[in-house]
Amino acid sequence: MLGPNDPCWCGSGRKYKRCHQPRDVVADFGREVGRLPSELRPVRPGRVSPRRSVPPHIPRPDYALRPDGRPGPRPKETIKTPEQIARMRAACRAAREVLEICKAAVRPGITTDELDRIAHEAYIARGGYPSTLGYCGFPKSICTSVNEVICHGIPDDRPLEEGDIVNIDVTIYLDGMHGDCSETVPVGRIDEASRRLIEVTRACLLAGIRAVRPGRPIRDIGRAICAIAEPQGYGVVRAFVGHGIGESFHMDPQVPHYDDPSATFIMRPGQTFTIEPMINQGTWKHRSWDDGWTAVTADLKRSAQHEHTVLVTEDGAEVLTAAPGEQARFVAGAELGERA
Ligand code: MF3
Ligand code: CO
Ligand code: CO
Repeated sequence: MLGPNDPCWCGSGRKYKRCHQPRDVVADFGREVGRLPSELRPVRPGRVSPRRSVPPHIPRPDYALRPDGRPGPRPKETIKTPEQIARMRAACRAAREVLEICKAAVRPGITTDELDRIAHEAYIARGGYPSTLGYCGFPKSICTSVNEVICHGIPDDRPLEEGDIVNIDVTIYLDGMHGDCSETVPVGRIDEASRRLIEVTRACLLAGIRAVRPGRPIRDIGRAICAIAEPQGYGVVRAFVGHGIGESFHMDPQVPHYDDPSATFIMRPGQTFTIEPMINQGTWKHRSWDDGWTAVTADLKRSAQHEHTVLVTEDGAEVLTAAPGEQARFVAGAELGERA
């Protein structure tokens, strides 16, 4: 047992009482009470398994070859050629396949590390590299963000529990292109408030996609998302944004999910970027764990996220990471009865 003045278990060098003790006390209480529903128990960091290897024949992105995992210079051009778009399509389709495989494996008792292993093998089976593996030092092949974790959760040995929600964020590097998508899914039966959170988050992503229209500022996307989430009392995360994607994992433009007047970038046909709103039951503010990655809500209420990679077309958007049966082609204004 650690005393309050011992160095914290997390290696921060701070005293336990100044670091993880307050959170641990709450979590231990939750465990003692035992059947406290999962939506009332904070997530704690678990053990992270050793780094998985990728066979040498799989082509790697530049950062995977560098010890610090930092990407090199990113392309300035945001409009892709038909040849690049064809490779984006393939990468995004593969990312979707891997995400569907992960979703099918979610059940109470499975650890997020097992989900990571399943994803890791699925990327490799498609000839792709797990984009997150080694990216700026990220140690795993997917991000798994449970309950109050907003994003960038590291897969570990925590078994998923009935009542949890988990976001699985899959990115593959295939034929020189990254494809990125994620979904938050329930683990077994979940409470009504969590079910609504997931539903609203899905509606936010859809509203963002419907706002994609060439000639319009990218601000339209966040404005549309906020208009859905905020009147219902949800917080829209500001610290993490969607991003241009292609040969680089993250490049211009930035895609805020809130109404940001400085988001003046004009959408043009041939651009590819992600829309990935993170919607919180409470405050939009976050705190970071000292693993350097995991972002949690400041009030420990739950957060959900859905992500697609989209292509701007001549008249709207194409969702490159659409799930089987999900609408992929959007014509801006069509719903309003305007001509495309
Ligand atoms: N896939 C995440 C995104 O949507 C990025 C994760 S970066 C990592 O942009 F380093 F955290 F893996
Ligand atoms: Co992602
Ligand atoms: Co992304």
